[in-house]
This record gives sequence, structure tokens and C-alpha cells, in this order.
Amino acid sequence: MEIKFWETDELKKKPEDESNLGFGTIFSDYMFIMHYTEGQGWHDADIKKYEDFRISPAATVFHYGQEVFEGLKAYRQVNGNISLFRAKDNFKRMNNSAKRLAMPLFDEEFAHKALRELVKIEQDWIPHAKGTSLYIRPNYIGMDPFIGVRAATEYAFYIMMGPVGAYYANGLKPVKILIEKEYTRSAKGGMGFAKTGGNYAASLIAGVEAHEQGCDQVLWLDAEERKYVEEVGSMNMMFIIDGKLVTPELDGCILPGITRDSVMTIARDMGITVEERRVSVAEVIETAKSGAMSEAFGTGTAAVVSPVGEFMYGDETVTVAGGKMGKLAMEFYDILTGIQYGEIEDKFGWIETI
Ligand SMILES: Cc1ncc(COP(=O)(O)O)c(C=O)c1O
Repeated sequence: MEIKFWETDELKKKPEDESNLGFGTIFSDYMFIMHYTEGQGWHDADIKKYEDFRISPAATVFHYGQEVFEGLKAYRQVNGNISLFRAKDNFKRMNNSAKRLAMPLFDEEFAHKALRELVKIEQDWIPHAKGTSLYIRPNYIGMDPFIGVRAATEYAFYIMMGPVGAYYANGLKPVKILIEKEYTRSAKGGMGFAKTGGNYAASLIAGVEAHEQGCDQVLWLDAEERKYVEEVGSMNMMFIIDGKLVTPELDGCILPGITRDSVMTIARDMGITVEERRVSVAEVIETAKSGAMSEAFGTGTAAVVSPVGEFMYGDETVTVAGGKMGKLAMEFYDILTGIQYGEIEDKFGWIETI
């Protein structure tokens, strides 16, 4: 399939102040979009002006939530190159999500090619300051104008993007996490491993209540026993316990994070023992109290590494690493961002240049 480029002369003014980009509010000039129709397959692949598009109020995505998405970034490296980090892994995970939601698979190579073309066209939108990037949001939705519970027969796949600021504009500040006792995010056999809107919709009320209690984010427990920790809002969870890197195993209930995998790879390379296993909330509280847990942090594309200073569990609050950023969390952050911005050698082969 050919990708058609529809040039527009109605280009937006790019933000001048790169210290104040925020996150998710500015969108670039162009988007990629392609369509699927049952019996015809994928068709009409276009790079065209980023703007509102027509969609039926009856579309499947609005009623039955048939939607999957991804999040990744393009970076301006110190030598001026433009880089993508493990982009193929995002499309692979997206197809995995699509399969769970009974959506037709798309050609990952083709989506990757479309992304490269879009980033090339939009390269002037990539901000320059360290820590800033062009956030990329692939999205895939059911489009049928039909009310009824079944998989759609028409779909749209699109990629939109926009510049985002440094996540830690004011330095890496440890967060306070509420270990969630009442609500759960996903259960065995559910769609916790898929990156789909419903998982996030289910999480919102817990986030609101966590904020009311002075916490920044929620750490989910397993739905069956409420005994094992799973992941944070948009991050995987990691602990340094007795010098080992410990992280909840991929049990189908959590998102297989690309940052999670990258941090585990870097840790192994540093000679640190990595354990992917069940981590009970009792272990988290006990080891934080005893000091056996020297660090806790979340991992994800947006923040890269986000240190945890405190956990709140019911009436109890425990402090980790004296409420400060841990040494290893800082090292993982420096190595990952160093690779992404081309400051250190990419010995794992994660970077591709546009
Ligand atoms: C629920 C959830 N878990 C984990 C992650 C981290 O995944 P990644 O490292 O691929 O960004 C994300 C972010 O995409 C997320 O939304």
C-alpha cells in the first residue's frame, strides 16, 4: 500500500518557549491515518493535516470501547540526529492489544514505515531542550455505525504527535503512592496486558480518591486476593530489595512495559540480579520498614523512571530511601535518557535514526 502525502500550507506556529510545553496539549501539523474494511482489508493510507475527522455517533469505539493505543517518543539527539526508541516493540504490543479486543491485526512493518515518514515530515516539531521530545500516539478504533455488541467491521488506525516538555522540569521528585485496597484494575483473563482505554477509564476514580488523600498515584493489587502488587497508573513497579531488582511478573494483568524491559536489561548488564515474581504487599511494607528495600520506582515512557518516596496502605505510611531519589533509579534514568538522546553508546540496539 502506498502512503499518500497531502501537503497543507496551513501550518501552525510552533511553540517558542520549550521550557513550558507541558504534556499532551499541543499537536503537530500532520497525522497518519489508514482504514480497514472487512472484505477489503487495509486501504487509504494518508499523511494529511492533523484535524478533526468525521465519525458516526454510533461508532463502536464510543459504545463498546473497541480501542487500543500506544505511546512512544522521538528524540533530538545531541549530534542533531532524530531517534526513535524501540518503536517496533510498540507496534508489536499494539497488535497484541488489538488481538485481545478482536480487532484485525495490522502490518507492523507498514505502521513503522508510516511512523518514520511522519516523523521525518514533522521533525521541526521535535523540541531541542534535554528531556523534551515529540510524543507519538498511535491509536486504533472501531468505526462501525452500528449499535450492537460485536466486533466492528470498519476501523481507523492513526498516528498523531506533539511536542512535550521535560517530565522533571523541577528535578526528579519522589512521589507518594497509595496502595489501592478497594478498586482493582484488571483480573486474570481480563485485558490488563492490553493498552486499551477501558483499563484507564476503570482507574480514574481511584486516582481521584488517591489525590484527595494527598497521594500522587495508585499502586494496584491483584483482583483475586488483594495481596500482590501489580503496577502504577501508567508505570510498571520496581523495587531494590537486598540489592536485587524485583518486579511483578507479567501475569496477564499488567502492561508489559518497554521501559520495564529496558531497565531489566540494563540492570542485568550491570551485574544486578533481576527477579520477575509475585511481590506481596506485606513484603513491600516489611522491607520498606526494615530497610531491606533500598529503593522503589516506577518505569514508563513518559517519566522514564519515577522514584517512590512513600507508600500509603490503609492507615499506614512507610518511607522508602528516606523519601529521596535512590542511587540505582538515578543510574537507570541517566543510562536510558543517555541512550535516547545519543549521549552514551546504544549497545543494546534500541535506537533507530530517522
Ligand atoms: C498501565 C501502564 N503500565 C505500564 C506502562 C509503561 O509502559 P512503557 O514503559 O512501555 O511506556 C504504561 C505506559 O505506557 C501504562 O500505561
